[in-house]
Amino acid sequence: SGTAPASDAAPAPGRGSAPELFTWEFATDPYPAYAWLREHAPVHRTTLPSGVEAWLVTRYADARQALADQRLSKNPAHHDESPHAKGKTGIPGERKAELMTHLLNIDPPDHTRLRRLVSKAFTPRRVAGFAPRVQELTDRLIDAFVEKGSADLIHEFAFPLPIHAICDLLGVPEEDQDDFRDWAGMMIRHGGGPRGGVARSVKKMRGYLAELIHRKREEPGDDLISGLIKASDHGEHLTENEAAAMAFILLFAGFETTVNLIGNGLYALLRNPGQRELLQASLAAGGTGLLETGIEELLRYDGPVEMATWRYATRALTIGGQEIPAGDPVLVVLAAADRDPERFDGPDVLDLARRDNQHLGYGHGIHYCLGAPLARLEGQTALATLLTRLPDLRLASDPAELRWRGGLIMRGLRTLPVEFSPS
Ligand code: HEM
Repeated sequence: SGTAPASDAAPAPGRGSAPELFTWEFATDPYPAYAWLREHAPVHRTTLPSGVEAWLVTRYADARQALADQRLSKNPAHHDESPHAKGKTGIPGERKAELMTHLLNIDPPDHTRLRRLVSKAFTPRRVAGFAPRVQELTDRLIDAFVEKGSADLIHEFAFPLPIHAICDLLGVPEEDQDDFRDWAGMMIRHGGGPRGGVARSVKKMRGYLAELIHRKREEPGDDLISGLIKASDHGEHLTENEAAAMAFILLFAGFETTVNLIGNGLYALLRNPGQRELLQASLAAGGTGLLETGIEELLRYDGPVEMATWRYATRALTIGGQEIPAGDPVLVVLAAADRDPERFDGPDVLDLARRDNQHLGYGHGIHYCLGAPLARLEGQTALATLLTRLPDLRLASDPAELRWRGGLIMRGLRTLPVEFSPS
């Protein structure tokens, strides 16, 4: 159901030409371009800023199908088979390096085995038990700026919260967490290649993780890394390398995403005062229902993951009627799919109470976000606490002045200046 017509037909009269992608305007507001693509070229071949050619899939039905299609591999090695490959995938980091053989770069059966192992350690129970700590971290960050009456909520709040949360969960001692924060910050700001500072940060992190895993093997604690080392599958243990790659992907996948869930989410609320008032009233009355549906809606409306991570056609296949040659990279545009009017009523409206909301913000299929329960916990705690403690929170910048980070996979603000009554 829902397959789209082929997109390589000659341009129909009146459809105009394809919008320019990856410009500054696009980074600020990609949604008009996505609407055009969904309508006129739902499976669209384009040249990415890195020079790599890839297919963008923008309709909900096609996106959902592609995310679950096992003929699309996550292993970058498949890209080399493409006649169109230019040898550059744009994948950050050394692709064959140990830290890169993680869940998001592998297929079954390795993926199945590693995902089962990590699921034994990263349980919903562990996440639920972590709620008081997330609340404490959240309050501590707000305490640090509450008397000022103004703050940049990206740098002073959305950025530090998830890195400290994941470090705590993994079992990185508090005194080492600032190093992690610096390395991760370097990767976010200058991601996209293993050069210079980024390469050094990845190397330092790799060295640190190897040592930490070694230490946890000797002296296990109650943390996720110790749990990972202990987890076994039919008597099979994670190798040290696999454990390090797993710790790395948990950090990497759980960091910038959550920064942007909080940043984009707050921004959307500040731009939609009616919805924000409803949420504040519901929180004041002690309700959590609107907070729960609201976080899902914020993910749908302007989620942190603009495009799912890379996939490669292992053989020629058809998506939405469009033929994709073997070896071609495919990018599923979650942000476009989640605004598809074929799937969502009034897709451009923020409706925190939306019920029929099977968005793709966490992906779909075997790579569905492992950290979704933690992301929900952090997102809900962050927004509820901010709106409760700073009830008159308001944007301190003209929205047109705000800058978005123009990454390919992630969508997020560089800064979010706000004002409020000090307390
Ligand atoms: C996978 C989104 C937070 C860990 C994914 C995928 C998406 C996603 C879309 C699938 C990518 C693909 O199919 O190419 C998000 C969003 C988050 C978030 C929107 C925050 C709002 C987290 C957190 C963690 C995490 C907090 C862990 C601490 C992972 C891992 C995978 C993943 C390990 C790979 C799963 C696999 O390949 O089996 N996430 N994520 N994520 N996420 Fe998240």
